[in-house]
Amino acid sequence: MIKIGVELGERSYEIVLGTGILHQIGEVMKSMEVSGKTAVVSNTTVFPLYGAPVVDSMKDAGFEAFPVILPDGEEYKNLDVLTRLYDELLGIGLDRKSAVIALGGGVVGDIAGFAAATYMRGIAYVQVPTTLLAQVDSSVGGKTGIDHAAGKNMIGAFWQPKLVWTDSETLRTLPERQLLAGMAEVIKYGIIRDKDLFGYLELNRERILSRDDETMLYLIRRSCGIKAEIVSKDERESGLRAVLNYGHTIGHAVETVTGYTRFLHGEAVAIGMLLEAELAARLGLLSSAEVEKIRGLIESFGLPSGIPDDIDSSALLSSMQLDKKALGGALRFVLPERIGKVRIQTVATKELMRLFRD
Ligand SMILES: NC(=O)c1ccc[n+]([C@@H]2O[C@H](COP(=O)([O-])OP(=O)(O)OC[C@H]3O[C@@H](n4cnc5c(N)ncnc54)[C@H](O)[C@@H]3O)[C@@H](O)[C@H]2O)c1
Ligand SMILES: [Zn+2]
Repeated sequence: MIKIGVELGERSYEIVLGTGILHQIGEVMKSMEVSGKTAVVSNTTVFPLYGAPVVDSMKDAGFEAFPVILPDGEEYKNLDVLTRLYDELLGIGLDRKSAVIALGGGVVGDIAGFAAATYMRGIAYVQVPTTLLAQVDSSVGGKTGIDHAAGKNMIGAFWQPKLVWTDSETLRTLPERQLLAGMAEVIKYGIIRDKDLFGYLELNRERILSRDDETMLYLIRRSCGIKAEIVSKDERESGLRAVLNYGHTIGHAVETVTGYTRFLHGEAVAIGMLLEAELAARLGLLSSAEVEKIRGLIESFGLPSGIPDDIDSSALLSSMQLDKKALGGALRFVLPERIGKVRIQTVATKELMRLFRD
């Protein structure tokens, strides 16, 4: 097993990575300040695959474990489903010493985490992420929440888990498109912080596509290590944590103008990462050879790398300006200076217009 610490004073916790470790979670939770009843929150796709080892392990360790199964999909990360979740947690009789276990991808993690953050003013929760995106990104860092008609993740809280328990075996059943979308976030870590990881991805494509456990654990370890370090220094995104948004300023705009139906989040981030690299090159920050390396890696994982012709660039621009990162007329971007290093810089609107036009 591999352990990575997220250092946040009294809110510190461990990310534990391994292969075939789901059935050991109960033992580990015995040593935590949790007692009695626990809720295993999952969805209709993930629970039939991985619910039994988690629930059984909790029971073997002396807990009462109650499954709570949500419908599957981002469209259910909303207030109605959250209300039903509260009803279930109250019905089970969870108390202040109880814990919630979030078993699933980022959707389950975000909504179950937010329920834990707010139930009886906050109870313990544990992330058991089962998508690559959740394993390298959403399960770490304590951002929880739900969507609102006005926008994604509009209602939420920072609430750190007590433990992240990641089993690489769960990736074997993940649909390939989801795996590749998660790879976009892994590529992101390479570009912002870790050129060795970037090089590793270039060399190990086949092993990644076949979900070789050792290879996947390496990727997850490097990714979580970077995220843990950044979150430890800037838990609430007042500065440094913003570097994790590389590719996301344009990526979010692509998701918004396509109504969140055409691209998975990671696919939109892939488009955003390449465009933001091109932007960095136009501004003289990044060499065109490095832009091509980024393009090559993104395309080698079958991820989209350009904005489709039918997307209107002025719609993209206004969506970015409405986004929370806009500052007056200029927009803030995370721009690579080389693979492994980024800086944050404001970019004038006319520069973006040129980027989209050419
Ligand atoms: N909290 C954060 O810091 C943070 C960061 C990034 C993204 N997010 C959020 O995460 C969500 C996206 O997460 P996601 O990409 O994991 O999507 P998801 O949770 O919708 O999972 C994708 C699909 O894969 C299925 N699935 C999950 N694990 C599986 C497995 N092992 N085998 C087979 N199928 C499996 C799910 O049921 C779902 O159908 C978004 O809501 C986003 O806002 C949060
Ligand atoms: Zn992302």
